[in-house]
Amino acid sequence: MKAIILSGGKGTRLRPLTYSGAKQLVPVANKPILFYCIENIVEAGIKDVGMIISPETGQEIKDATGDGSRWGINIQYITQDVPGGLAHAIKTARDFLADSAFVMYLGDNLIGTGIDKFIDEFKRNMPEALILLKEVDNPKQFGVADVSPEGRVLRLIEKPEVPPSNLALVGIYIFSPKIHEAIERIKPSTRGELEITDAIQELINMGCSVESFVLDMWWLDTGKKDDMLTANAIVLDKWLKGNINGQVDNTSRILGRVAVGKGSVIKESTIRGPVVIGENTVIENSFIGPHTSIGNKVNIIRSSVEHSVIMDESELRNIERLEESLVGRRVKITENRKTHKALRLMLGDDSVVEV
Ligand code: DAU
Repeated sequence: MKAIILSGGKGTRLRPLTYSGAKQLVPVANKPILFYCIENIVEAGIKDVGMIISPETGQEIKDATGDGSRWGINIQYITQDVPGGLAHAIKTARDFLADSAFVMYLGDNLIGTGIDKFIDEFKRNMPEALILLKEVDNPKQFGVADVSPEGRVLRLIEKPEVPPSNLALVGIYIFSPKIHEAIERIKPSTRGELEITDAIQELINMGCSVESFVLDMWWLDTGKKDDMLTANAIVLDKWLKGNINGQVDNTSRILGRVAVGKGSVIKESTIRGPVVIGENTVIENSFIGPHTSIGNKVNIIRSSVEHSVIMDESELRNIERLEESLVGRRVKITENRKTHKALRLMLGDDSVVEV
């Protein structure tokens, strides 16, 4: 069994963060989303991984991920010239995949379980495809499955106007090499992409067996800001281990599970977990509330932050209350000390500010 991880695409829904970096490297609890995918693949015992990258952000993914040796696996990079769709990505990886069965993992999906049981099930029954489904409130935003009462997949549609069910396709799929034949038979969709939903639908039309599982654990497609914040909160809730490696002065209070990285300093502050703080960060006279991840070399001075992600080298000064915010790298947020209450902003394209 091999795996491909899809780390190409444009990441338009996470702009402006994705103007300067790959969406799959945006941190959740201070670790790139992509690394959670890799770890799940490693735990399932897969050693050969093809990483689909785009010409724009591929180098950044390579620099952050390397050749896989740190996880004891081989990672081969495969450049997809254009984001031509998930089935197009499989086509691009055709030589790497050869005639192997494989897992396709979308590099922006986070799931609250390992994938070994699905691989075991695939090996036991040998269907042509095994897909994972999850009940969602907003099926229009996903691929959606129409499933018979006995659990047989009847039909799949990508982002339907009128969803036939609330069962969304999760971005983790297992295929036999038969999928290549199905991909050869499909045409680009109206949005110009070779859709994986159409390819699986083609397998169904060809009379092949497509198995499905409905997940009962959490799953997140980290496409947008609020999804990112939810992913961050869930991962901190479920997986964070408290661990203080930095300095905490004796006027500070640490409550609940809090991880503080090496070289970080907490002075006269309260940190209420679950919270993760990276390395060489300074928190002074501040309150850091639950479900917050703070990166490396961040300065938070006389401020209050809650349910937020603050990435590396950013600075907050005299900010009374910051909540539900996603702050990129090297961002400065400071109080305007002038007497008139004007906002003074320098924001990149597609920034969103609520005042
Ligand atoms: O997350 C689950 C959903 O993922 C499914 O329910 C949908 O059926 C499926 O089409 C997909 O929808 P998205 O709109 O979320 O896909 P997105 O364009 O965000 O791409 C998913 C990942 O694949 C992302 O990490 C970028 C990468 N990608 C995407 C395209 C279109 C590539 O590497 N190459 C591509 O050509």
